[in-house]
Amino acid sequence: MKFTSTTILATAILAGTSFAAPRSGLIDRLQSRGTLSRQSLPTEKKGVLLKEAAAGANVQYSKNWAGVVREQPPASGTYSAVSATFTVPEPTATNESGEMQAVSAWVGIDGDTYTKAILQTGIDTYIQDGKKTFDAWYEWYPLSAENFDLALSAGDVIVAKVETYSPSEGAAIIENKSSGQSVTKTLSAPSADATLAGQNAEWIVEDFNTGSSMVPLVNFDRVDFTGAQAEAGGAKYGVKNAAVLDIQQNGDLKAHVEIQSDTEFFVTYQ
Ligand SMILES: *[C@@H]1O[C@H](CO)[C@@H](O)[C@H](O)[C@H]1NC(C)=O
Ligand SMILES: *[C@@H]1O[C@H](CO)[C@@H](O)[C@H](O)[C@H]1NC(C)=O
Repeated sequence: MKFTSTTILATAILAGTSFAAPRSGLIDRLQSRGTLSRQSLPTEKKGVLLKEAAAGANVQYSKNWAGVVREQPPASGTYSAVSATFTVPEPTATNESGEMQAVSAWVGIDGDTYTKAILQTGIDTYIQDGKKTFDAWYEWYPLSAENFDLALSAGDVIVAKVETYSPSEGAAIIENKSSGQSVTKTLSAPSADATLAGQNAEWIVEDFNTGSSMVPLVNFDRVDFTGAQAEAGGAKYGVKNAAVLDIQQNGDLKAHVEIQSDTEFFVTYQ
């Protein structure tokens, strides 16, 4: 077929129409939860108090992140993979309001000091009016998260991993540790401005956003990260000597990190 401007216009209109038509069941499920734009963001350290020196060196507060961040690439190269095992936490509402509360746990590359892009994958748990919801997702920030088609429950042990093949190509992998089954999504940078640099590696519990507002943090009790590992230039790195972030909101400590070994730490709801 010879392309005329009319054909191109008709194609554009058709494309526009099909885009506006109802999409997959996944979108419907997301919309019904009101979390169409669920998004992890870079760590937010502005407006939070600095921890007093006596409380521990190398600990920073963030409004939205608790966990461990390797803030500099090692001499062996830039970060090309980050992974960890953790258990999907049981959410408990912090009060009787019935409002939605949530938390995420994830692993990622470039979420801290780099700021232009983050490749990340992990899980969310929500509670609203007593109803609990669990999702597994992947995200190449600044795009919003997309769900994996995986039915999660509290107590599921998962292995989350992101890896990159180039600054603009990577993959997100969630494996069910009990069954060994896994889901993988290969991803490309959403724009030329959102390529990865492999500057940061992170293992995070996040109070995330929908649109421009944070979803109130749910009581997640505790998330244990084991097998925490980052790869850079063929060498492997853990969480020792990395930056530790606790969540502080309105002057209150909300989530606290305890390092147990080079590959293990846990985050507790306060
Ligand atoms: C993980 O595997 C276990 C054991 O096969 C199963 O009971 C559980 O439902 C699975 N969870 C997911 C999210 O696939
Ligand atoms: C109850 O929790 C919701 C969501 O976290 C919060 O917006 C609200 O202020 C809380 N209400 C009280 C009375 O603490």
